[in-house]
Amino acid sequence: MQKIKVLVVGSGCREHAIVRSLLEDQNISAIYTLPERISLKDTIDIPSALLNDFEALADYLKKENIELVVIGPEKVLVEGLADVLRNREIGVFGPCSKSAQLEGSKIFAKEFMKAEGIPTASYHIVSSVSEVLHASENFFPPYVLKADGLAGGKGVFICHNRLELEEKSQFLFDKKALGSAGEKALLEDFQKGQELSVFVITDGDFYQFLPVAQDYKRLYEGQKGPNTGGMGAIAPVSISSELLKAIEDKIVKPTLEGLKKRDCVYRGVLYLGLMIHKNFPKVLEYNVRFGDPEAQVLLPLLEGSWLDVFYKIAQAKKLNLNWKKKYSVSVVLCAENYPEGPLNSVPIEGLIYAQKDHSWFVHGSLTRREDQWFTQGGRVLNSVAIGDNKKQAVQRAYQHIKGVSWKGMRYRKDIGQS
Ligand code: GLY
Repeated sequence: MQKIKVLVVGSGCREHAIVRSLLEDQNISAIYTLPERISLKDTIDIPSALLNDFEALADYLKKENIELVVIGPEKVLVEGLADVLRNREIGVFGPCSKSAQLEGSKIFAKEFMKAEGIPTASYHIVSSVSEVLHASENFFPPYVLKADGLAGGKGVFICHNRLELEEKSQFLFDKKALGSAGEKALLEDFQKGQELSVFVITDGDFYQFLPVAQDYKRLYEGQKGPNTGGMGAIAPVSISSELLKAIEDKIVKPTLEGLKKRDCVYRGVLYLGLMIHKNFPKVLEYNVRFGDPEAQVLLPLLEGSWLDVFYKIAQAKKLNLNWKKKYSVSVVLCAENYPEGPLNSVPIEGLIYAQKDHSWFVHGSLTRREDQWFTQGGRVLNSVAIGDNKKQAVQRAYQHIKGVSWKGMRYRKDIGQS
């Protein structure tokens, strides 16, 4: 393979983890990032404005001879970035915009699952407070109300009674707090059980599983407090071969068949948010990209080259994934008042580039003015560690945190312990 240039799109910890997985690759001559990321070393920034004009971005990539693009976040996938680049014969790891509707529209995803017989909670489509209250007569509390569109992790409401349901419906439909993402919504049955994040790498035909991961979504220890984008993750999580087979037969295969029937081009990673109850899996949600913080724990577990994986999937070539017999853990370090309204511009003290063979930081929402680093958003850094067993990986991830601090920095102390 000739040395190539690669672009990683996206600005979070997940995308830094992707960059990190490519850094040592002898077959890469340069890694580019978009939007600009001042906290990363060893990468070349592409002007952020090009994210607003995909054709101009394709011109830039052609001119710079950048052959492969790995897309991290869902928004640009829904907007059709992969389609534009693929039309210009640039290799892309990321699905087409029609496939991305699986994440971009919760209603599309439910109708897709219904048509393909894929297990998920029963639902009703709603677009006003009165419709919600009327439909709720056929559901039992707790009620689940989900905004249809992309809402950056803020569009799902678990309501314990009708009063709460009414308030959240007013928030969506009367106050229009989520804008067009909340013009329509789903009222769903609540699903209980164990939540798992299952990923397959696929070119739409061929697929392979990644290790199963667990995301810690709630803000506080013991799965308490509000939902967040994710406060930590561990992998692998062991599941029975029967359950894996059920996930493959009842969910993965019919999903890929359903996409093919609809002429979708799915070359990337498909992320199934599942609820397992009595060993039976149901889909909570589809995502059309790596999870964040799950990517941070999955990427270091590959035995081999991620460039090879991204490149082959972009070319729709088969591959064989092998995994290290190790455990990895990611602990998310958040700004004060995350997720409500994270405090920006708080000075960060310590070694944000601290790195050992078995533990390191990945960078998300932070910025620099002169020689000082500041918080700039909710999920600022992740401490990631790998170990021979879960306990060792957990210890290393928490030990590594000791190198940094800022006023109001918070993180969960129980990642990997439940
Ligand atoms: N870990 C949740 C997400 O990536 O959406």
